[in-house]
Amino acid sequence: MRTRIIGTGSCLPETVVTNDDLSKIMDTSDEWISSRTGIRERRLVKDETTASMSIEAARRALEDAKVSAQDIDLIIVGTITGDYVTPSTACEVQAAIGADKAVAFDVNAACSGFMFALHTADAYFKAGIYKTALVLGAETLSKIMDWNDRSTCVLFGDGAGAAVLRAEETGILAYDQGSDGAKGMVLACKNRLNNNPLVQNPKDLQYTYMDGQEVYKFAVTTVPASINKVLNEAGLSVEDIDYFALHQANIRIIQSVAKRLKVSEDKFPISLDHCGNISAGSVPILLDEINKKGMLKPGMKIVLSGFGAGLTWGSAVIEW
Ligand code: ACO
Repeated sequence: MRTRIIGTGSCLPETVVTNDDLSKIMDTSDEWISSRTGIRERRLVKDETTASMSIEAARRALEDAKVSAQDIDLIIVGTITGDYVTPSTACEVQAAIGADKAVAFDVNAACSGFMFALHTADAYFKAGIYKTALVLGAETLSKIMDWNDRSTCVLFGDGAGAAVLRAEETGILAYDQGSDGAKGMVLACKNRLNNNPLVQNPKDLQYTYMDGQEVYKFAVTTVPASINKVLNEAGLSVEDIDYFALHQANIRIIQSVAKRLKVSEDKFPISLDHCGNISAGSVPILLDEINKKGMLKPGMKIVLSGFGAGLTWGSAVIEW
């Protein structure tokens, strides 16, 4: 028994914000951003929220999979930017789509969130507990950015992606995931500060901090190693893989991973040019884009890989 992706969906906010738009409100330029990251524009929320985009992405994935919400046993959302501390985004999705029989919860693994959700569903399937699941990666990163910090805020965007999973004969062939909490502070966003009758903190808001160069070093070493591990486990080589759908952090990271794996960059589809970095949303949104373009055919082998804050990483090789 394996975990197969049988449908995908995604939802981006309506409003496009280009690098030139940003250069009108901060000291930056299209040249600086696009040459270092490959990002040309991103979508930012106005009225949309993490839950509203997740609900729409979930509906589109169910339609693509031709599966009823009533058939869903499990909903897992990878997110660090839910609308509420509680209820979870997964519970909001469950209520909105009417997946009454599903168990629903979120996972916090930042840019690896979708991959961790996928692997958790796979473990439930392998244990024989559930057979049909909806997994999502969704973020409203713009609300945890310091819009006065040009070195981070220009990198990120908002959006949600979803996949419907079913226990079938083929699907995930091998999986690798890992965490390195010791390096957690290179990419961090603090939660609320202590606040009770004993401790009174100023009610300041907390924003994302990133040591970009440390994150770059982590990504370009860990991701190729993780991908090689899943390929070895599946008994495949890089030549057997049709596409490498990586977390969309930065074009330089993707180019470096391609070089280290000795694979043509043509096998690495890109959405960061028009989406920016959507953390947990990146991999499922990219997967939905290439699926809807008709690029995925039954039997193709695809590597998915997410990596980011925690630090965390997760890779899978799947048969489509
Ligand atoms: N516009 C113009 N100038 C800027 C901007 C900006 N938006 N941001 C920073 N600068 C300036 C800095 O102030 C600095 O100026 P100085 O030399 O006068 O001090 C200069 O540009 C260089 O700044 P660095 O931070 O050293 O820039 P670097 O070349 O390292 O590039 C980047 C930054 C693109 C983030 C790079 O470190 C990188 O690719 N990191 C990988 C991490 C990443 O992509 N993270 C995304 C999120 S994490 C994840 O999803 C896994």
